[in-house]
Amino acid sequence: MDHLRGKKILIAITGGIAAYKIPELIRLFVKSGCEVRAAVTENACKFIQPLTLETLTGHPVLRNEFTLIKESQIPHIEATAWCDILIVAPATGNILGKAASGIADDLVSTLIMATSQKPILFAPAMNSRMYLNPIVKRNIAVLKETGHFFIGPEEGEMACGEEGLGRLVLLTCIVEKVKDIFTEKDLHNNTILISAGPTQEPIDPVRYITNRSSGKMGYAIAKAAKRRGGRVILISGPTRLSIPKEGITLIRVKTALEMEREIYEHYPYSDIVIMAAAVADYRTNRPFPHKLKKSDRVFQLELVRNPDILKSLGGKKETQILVGFAAETENFEKNALQKIKDKNLDLIVVNNVNLPDAGFEVDTNRIMLIDRFGKIRRFPLQSKEDAADAILDKIIKLKKKIRPENHNEKNKRT
Ligand code: PMT
Repeated sequence: MDHLRGKKILIAITGGIAAYKIPELIRLFVKSGCEVRAAVTENACKFIQPLTLETLTGHPVLRNEFTLIKESQIPHIEATAWCDILIVAPATGNILGKAASGIADDLVSTLIMATSQKPILFAPAMNSRMYLNPIVKRNIAVLKETGHFFIGPEEGEMACGEEGLGRLVLLTCIVEKVKDIFTEKDLHNNTILISAGPTQEPIDPVRYITNRSSGKMGYAIAKAAKRRGGRVILISGPTRLSIPKEGITLIRVKTALEMEREIYEHYPYSDIVIMAAAVADYRTNRPFPHKLKKSDRVFQLELVRNPDILKSLGGKKETQILVGFAAETENFEKNALQKIKDKNLDLIVVNNVNLPDAGFEVDTNRIMLIDRFGKIRRFPLQSKEDAADAILDKIIKLKKKIRPENHNEKNKRT
């Protein structure tokens, strides 16, 4: 699912030091298939060259509300009619104040006023003492109440060398937020419990048993579910990944037993449960309390079975839609159908982990979805992000089929 392909993005840049980051933001949007145009305030031009923006967008930069463009078009009217969204980044305290008070005395404030029918996203960036000023806070509250979107700022070192809340958020978060804004909230009012990553089973204080799972597939599902309006609880084994805090409760665990405990805790009130984690099937019976010393003798490690979390969830299933994963190297359909039966699943996502571009660690996957009615759908190579949306599309369809009463009741409440 290409959330951003073909979208028309108008980026208005105001006069803050973070303006130097915006060319990279434009590149990210262009790479995602968007058409981008830029507008600047006079002060923004002190931080960034319009020529850079023109080169990256392939469009003239809008600089002045009184300069007519071709065939007497008025820039702020033509540009806001053209765009699907207006992003103000960085948004200074000054532009937030103008927007909240209905002042339109330059090109960017006029663009904001003229964008009354389309979404506007503000990404504030300023010194933290300015950001924490009650007047700025009030202006932001007014703009939020009016229905405008906000992202950030975040904490960190600022241009002046001080630490505090006021930095422009990561550019990837701005892109993610825009995707969010354009996504239909078809998981609204659903709690989605997702497991991701590997588990680590300790041998001694410095060694453990684990597997190659990076967590990318599970995290992609968590982000997609959140974007689609779900309340997401992500139970994650050890990974190097980060995830937006807004709308996702992240619970980090290490071992299969810890994962089991957390999943049981949140299972009863979840609507959809997706086990994407690669849970270790075995653990040492009792980890050694001290670091093991080398010896020349053969070393034998006794392993015991970990609980099969998914199987026991299947046994306790009430109204949840239960989705398992299968990392297979052979007999894909036969093994997957057996798992659906053994674990009382509604859907299984099969990855062929023989292939270098699918399964563990990589950013792409080749999945096959098999539902509990035996219906099979194979997908070509795609990003894990797109695979996540394909899985959620199928879950929503299945939920309507299996639990129509539940689905309608939830929609009535929205
Ligand atoms: O994390 P990435 O690098 O992005 O890689 C993604 C992935 C390959 C790990 C993921 O797509 C995947 O296939 N996850 C499941 C891997 C796995 O453990 O498969 P399995 O066939 O052994 O287990 C079947 C199902 O039972 C899985 O849903 C698993 O979460 C669950 N299980 C397994 C063992 C266990 N003790 N308890 C479980 O609940």
